[in-house]
Amino acid sequence: MFDAPHSSPISATDTKVIPFLKWAGGKRWLASDLVKKIGQPVGRYIEPFLGGGAIFFTLRPKSALLGDLNTELVDTYRAIQKNWRGIKSRLERHQELHTKDYYYTVRSTTPKNALDRAARFIYLNRTCWNGLYRVNLSGVFNVPIGTKNTVLLDTDDFETISHLLESAKIQAGDFESLIDQAIEGDVVFADPPYTVRHKFNGFVKYNESLFSWDDQVRLRNSLLRAMNRGAKIFVTNADHESIRVLYGDEFELTGIERYSSISGKSSTRGKYPELVITG
Ligand SMILES: C[S@@+](CC[C@H](N)C(=O)[O-])C[C@H]1O[C@@H](n2cnc3c(N)ncnc32)[C@H](O)[C@@H]1O
Repeated sequence: MFDAPHSSPISATDTKVIPFLKWAGGKRWLASDLVKKIGQPVGRYIEPFLGGGAIFFTLRPKSALLGDLNTELVDTYRAIQKNWRGIKSRLERHQELHTKDYYYTVRSTTPKNALDRAARFIYLNRTCWNGLYRVNLSGVFNVPIGTKNTVLLDTDDFETISHLLESAKIQAGDFESLIDQAIEGDVVFADPPYTVRHKFNGFVKYNESLFSWDDQVRLRNSLLRAMNRGAKIFVTNADHESIRVLYGDEFELTGIERYSSISGKSSTRGKYPELVITG
């Protein structure tokens, strides 16, 4: 799909790491192609919209700066970074106790302890409806129970994940503070919520309240500044005229297709045109 990588490929001896979360807009489907294009950075790998971290886990950079606006998500990564065994044992306990009543009890309580909170986050992500993260206006997770009962997955490798996160700095907050730290030799990969101008489908509409068009413009401007400082830029976004106009002059655009199956309604499942933007 893309050109050959500019730098050395990932070591074949590395164990494959599967992201531990299912995340809306996750890039597992694109990871192997995109990572070939990104290559190993000379400097740091900077990912300000981390979500489930599909690209980070496939690229396995030596040094990384990771972030997301979702504080619970960032705290979960940090907890695995510090004590993966503590997370694994708590998930084993959730697996033993999992029932419908147990799910709603866990959902209604926010533990004070960081490890308990992180294990709860992963437990709910794996057993809730469609693996979607959604909170109400008070910031409380409110997704109903789903059809999956598997809390521990065969693909789980929290030890390797913790090891990969050892050399990463993880920050909760807005993308701009991370991108503003990018310097020559760094690679920035930005996978924002998709919002486009003048066109709304269910997916975009949901994100619109979270990530406005002004945010898209602010993102493009911060990426352009980072590019002018010598950082290499990779962005994914919806293939829409407004996004093409936003990035077109200064960046290179490649059209790709995503097959979506995360939507609850089968009628809205299908192929969506997306863009990989490089600079
Ligand atoms: C499309 S998802 C990223 C998915 C990720 N690439 C993956 O493979 O799972 C976008 C992420 O951006 C985060 N986000 C939304 N607004 C943000 C902001 N202003 N700054 C940083 N992160 C933000 C959301 O919490 C969400 O995790």
